[in-house]
Amino acid sequence: MLVATIFRRNLQFLCLLFFLSSAGAAAANELQTLLSIKSALHESNTKVFDSWESTNPMCNFSGITCDSNNAVIEIELSRQNLTGSIPLDSICRLKSLETLSLGFNFLFGPVTDELNMCVSLRYLDLGNNFFSGSFPAIPLLSGLIYLHANRSGFSGTFPWDSLENMTNLIVLSLGDNPFDRTPFPSAILKLTKLKWLYLSNCSIEGKIPDGIGNLVELMNLELAQNYITGEIPVGISRLRNLWQLELYQNELIGKLPTGLGSLSSLEYFDASNNHLTGNLSEVRSLRQLVSLQVFKNEFYGEIPPELGEFEKLVNFSIYKNRLSGELPEKLGSWSAFHFIDASENYFTGRIPPDMCKKGTMKKLLILQNNFTGQIPATYANCKSLTRFRVSKNLLSGEVPGGIWGLPNAELIDIAENNLEGPITSDIGNAKSLSSLLLAKNRFTGELPSDISKASALVSIDLSYNQFTGNIPTTIGELKQLNSLQLQANKLSGLIPDSLGSCDSITDINMAHNFLTGQIPASLGSLPTLNYLNLSWNELSGSIPGSLSSLSLSLLDLSSNQLIGRIPESLSIEAYNDSFAGNNGLCSDKIRKFHPCLSEAGTSRHLRTVLFCFMVGFIVILLIAGFFCIKKMRKTEHGVSLKEDSWNVKPYHVLSFTEDEILDSIKQENIIGKGGSGHVYRVALENGIELAVKHIWHSNNTGNWKKIRSTTPMLANCGIRSREFEAEIQTLSSIRHINVVKLYCSITSEDSSLLVYEYMPNGSLWDRLHTCRKLALDWDTRYEIAVGAAKGLEYLHHGCDRPVIHRDVKSSNILLDEDLKPRIADFGLAKIVQENSKKESSTQIIAGTHGYIAPEYGYTNKVNEKSDLYSFGVVLMELVTGKRPVESEFGENKDIVDWVYGKLKSKGSVLSIVDSSIPQVQKEDAIKVLKIAILCTARVPALRPSMRTVVQMLEEAGPCQLVGIIVGKDGQK
Ligand SMILES: *[C@@H]1O[C@H](CO)[C@@H](O)[C@H](O)[C@H]1NC(C)=O
Ligand SMILES: *[C@@H]1O[C@H](CO)[C@@H](O)[C@H](O)[C@H]1NC(C)=O
Ligand SMILES: *[C@@H]1O[C@H](CO)[C@@H](O)[C@H](O)[C@H]1NC(C)=O
Repeated sequence: MLVATIFRRNLQFLCLLFFLSSAGAAAANELQTLLSIKSALHESNTKVFDSWESTNPMCNFSGITCDSNNAVIEIELSRQNLTGSIPLDSICRLKSLETLSLGFNFLFGPVTDELNMCVSLRYLDLGNNFFSGSFPAIPLLSGLIYLHANRSGFSGTFPWDSLENMTNLIVLSLGDNPFDRTPFPSAILKLTKLKWLYLSNCSIEGKIPDGIGNLVELMNLELAQNYITGEIPVGISRLRNLWQLELYQNELIGKLPTGLGSLSSLEYFDASNNHLTGNLSEVRSLRQLVSLQVFKNEFYGEIPPELGEFEKLVNFSIYKNRLSGELPEKLGSWSAFHFIDASENYFTGRIPPDMCKKGTMKKLLILQNNFTGQIPATYANCKSLTRFRVSKNLLSGEVPGGIWGLPNAELIDIAENNLEGPITSDIGNAKSLSSLLLAKNRFTGELPSDISKASALVSIDLSYNQFTGNIPTTIGELKQLNSLQLQANKLSGLIPDSLGSCDSITDINMAHNFLTGQIPASLGSLPTLNYLNLSWNELSGSIPGSLSSLSLSLLDLSSNQLIGRIPESLSIEAYNDSFAGNNGLCSDKIRKFHPCLSEAGTSRHLRTVLFCFMVGFIVILLIAGFFCIKKMRKTEHGVSLKEDSWNVKPYHVLSFTEDEILDSIKQENIIGKGGSGHVYRVALENGIELAVKHIWHSNNTGNWKKIRSTTPMLANCGIRSREFEAEIQTLSSIRHINVVKLYCSITSEDSSLLVYEYMPNGSLWDRLHTCRKLALDWDTRYEIAVGAAKGLEYLHHGCDRPVIHRDVKSSNILLDEDLKPRIADFGLAKIVQENSKKESSTQIIAGTHGYIAPEYGYTNKVNEKSDLYSFGVVLMELVTGKRPVESEFGENKDIVDWVYGKLKSKGSVLSIVDSSIPQVQKEDAIKVLKIAILCTARVPALRPSMRTVVQMLEEAGPCQLVGIIVGKDGQK
């Protein structure tokens, strides 16, 4: 008995001991597990693991929660900069783990089906990471209540079957993943506890099943940015708890379903960008709406008047439909209204006056309708307004003075109405205003000098009005001003000299006014002026020689009263009609004008011009003579650049001497080594920097072997050819804001120096691919694409004959200090080729591996279309951030093959967009990629022209005319 008792007690004790030690062992195991998780993620830039030391109690580690038995039940490590691949083998050893929260990190690599071993999980968040491969099947995780895997790089097919038994699921968030296309997964229709379903942008196609109506608990249903077709199912009207319904950017057709109006809790409804039709009468009872967006559809009919009573409505965007009638008078007057965009419909009547009643309205956009009446005076006090666009309507009367001075308005666009009266001096308060667009109205009066206090102005368009009086002399204070359109008014007086201080200006149009006096010489100092139209005025005096230093794509001084000599450097083909209708002008170069020298009774002015010309000529002679006798100096090659006579051909006004250039051609100044020659940076004494390209024509001395080896494209050519000279002449006459300026060439028997403007920011290649890499945001990349396209367009279409580049590539697109692109090395391949024609055995390849059009393989004939192909490759670089040839593309494959291989689904297309481009801009990037695909068509004839490419790119711009899409954020 006693023995038995003792035995029993011992047994109890032993059991207790056993139990305690096994619990202890389990805890020790879990500690080891956590430490191995830490070490797997050791590359993360985070402090969260600082407390994860074996000396600390495991349950006190940051991000860790234990249950009462000291078993880990929660890992909360979202937004911790975690990087590395996810150590599921360790994590799923934590048998009690219920919550695994790893969202918003930088985890990468595959998520394996080891995940299935985390059998206790109820909350799983892997969203907003950089995983690859497909999401694993997880049939064992049927206890899940929350599943987030949105925006995490998963592709392939999602294991929809695994959802079948997850009947407790409340949140399912899988959107923004490049899955393969899939019909709406029927497994979801059984998850009747779902409150939150986020399936936007994950390649769902086909119809939304009517059974969606079974998910009666749903508060949020997001199916935007998919390939959904058919009608919105009637079943949707059973979702009485719905608070947000997002269906935008699909291919939905038909009318809004009957019963939609019974979703009485609905606050956010967006069905924009579909093909929906019918009227909006279902919306009339959605009285809780905060945001209603149905833009870009085919809705017609009137806006239900009840909308004027919606007390929560703050966002209202219905642009690009066929809606008509009037907007409700009280629209937006109840709450902190934010924006309206009713543009591009057929609305009539007045602008609702009270949308800014609470002083919160940001944007009022109603352009291109038939609104009438005055601009309501209430908006003159709407200090919150940033954009005020009412252009292309039938508005009349005077603009309330306060509108001009709205302190936060960035854009005032009231063009193409019947508005009248003056711009008042209130404009001086418009400190944020960057665009003031008033064209085609009936405005009168003088321009207030206070306009110069609106110092953020970039674009002023007052054209086609009846403004009178002088252009204010204060205009020069507008340092940001880029475009000044004053044409077709009744302005008189002088063009203010101060205009020459508007350093940012590129376009000036003052045509069709009554301006008098001389053209201010100061205009010649505007560094970026590209377009100058002063035609049809009463300007007199001579054309200032300073205009020669501009690189203008348009110069129009016609129909004035100008006299004297047309400056030599402006007498080029591109400006042929620029001077017509000025009977007092003369020229020795342009036949239409009478020659200057033969004219009897030369005016004082002409004599001055002649004198300057002579002096210039003598100076050049002296300089040339100077070189002939100057002694040789050693260069890096041990050969003097000055031993030959150098023939200087200036094409722009030069502010340097050849000595300065020649002295700088030495090793330490090399900034680039190209196929056609080295490039040197030359810093002049006056601070100006130049880039000088040195091209050798000859290898007739043994000394130059070294040079030959670095310039394999060059072959013998004893004497420099006349074609070379002609070609250089053509290239140097090219003036365009997106083309690098060629200042002059300096040639000798053996080599040539081409003097270009220097671009401090290097090339696009440097910025995208090298250690000088910059985080170029999408807007910058897009601007570079458009600018480079315009430069090429000018080369192809803007000159006497097309200039084919033959070597378009990102390293030939240079960037100025504002990262604006300029095309470099244009036409050079031709020159080099021309020079070596006689050596027919040398096959010269124009172009660079990865950029060469396929037709080059079977014909040496290149034309503009070959440039198009190369440009398409550059666009692909911009969109993907990849080089044209990378090993990841596979053997013998280049970027074009790689991109074409990814075109099978929207998901995989999105996946090749540079990951540094934010999600919201990826669609914009895809638009540019589409253009790149057209450019790289195999058959040259199928590629568009550069002109078309420019148009397409402009249409693909991120700032569409009226588009506002309020942030659609998949991060829930
Ligand atoms: C993540 O990294 C960024 C940039 O280094 C840093 O600013 C931030 O504080 C880090 N966050 C955490 C939670 O460590
Ligand atoms: C769901 O549960 C049923 C019944 O237990 C079972 O037959 C089926 O295989 C389960 N489905 C999955 C995907 O595990
Ligand atoms: C404006 O009204 C005119 C005349 O009725 C009509 O021709 C035009 O299409 C209307 N434009 C818009 C945008 O409604």
